[in-house]
Amino acid sequence: MNINLVKIFLLMIFYLIPNISFSGDLTLGKEKAAAVCSVCHGMNGQSASGGNSALVPNITAQNKEYLIAKMKDYKSGKINHPQMSLIAQMLSDEDIENVAEWYSNIKISIELPLE
Ligand code: HEC
Repeated sequence: MNINLVKIFLLMIFYLIPNISFSGDLTLGKEKAAAVCSVCHGMNGQSASGGNSALVPNITAQNKEYLIAKMKDYKSGKINHPQMSLIAQMLSDEDIENVAEWYSNIKISIELPLE
């Protein structure tokens, strides 16, 4: 009986720890971006590099929480789009964290059009 309780306790810890500490893996995010996202958004998040229409948004250096929120909205059906909804449904929550880690970590410098 006691041993079973210990097992249950350990299982709970194993299931909870990844949820608490997981924050996106850059290397896995890069792989997923190369395999899936880059076709349309480019590896650097500039959609032009994929040869696509201007309707594919640039996501370079976008805020990580925003990227995650949007992908989850496409995945849940809150936002519907013939391409992105399909893509998002192929992604696990970890995939979403990882690709968001990749695109949000791209470094850019900003220049205003007029000073
Ligand atoms: C087949 C082309 C295609 C692929 C592949 C694709 N996207 Fe998209 N993505 C789009 C299009 C088109 C939109 C604009 C959808 C809309 O108008 O709602 C979009 C929108 C988005 C948005 C919302 C941007 C915003 O500012 O609202 C995010 C974030 C995004 N994509 C991330 C990704 C990531 C990450 C991947 C890889 C896992 C990916 N996309 C793969 C075509 C694609």
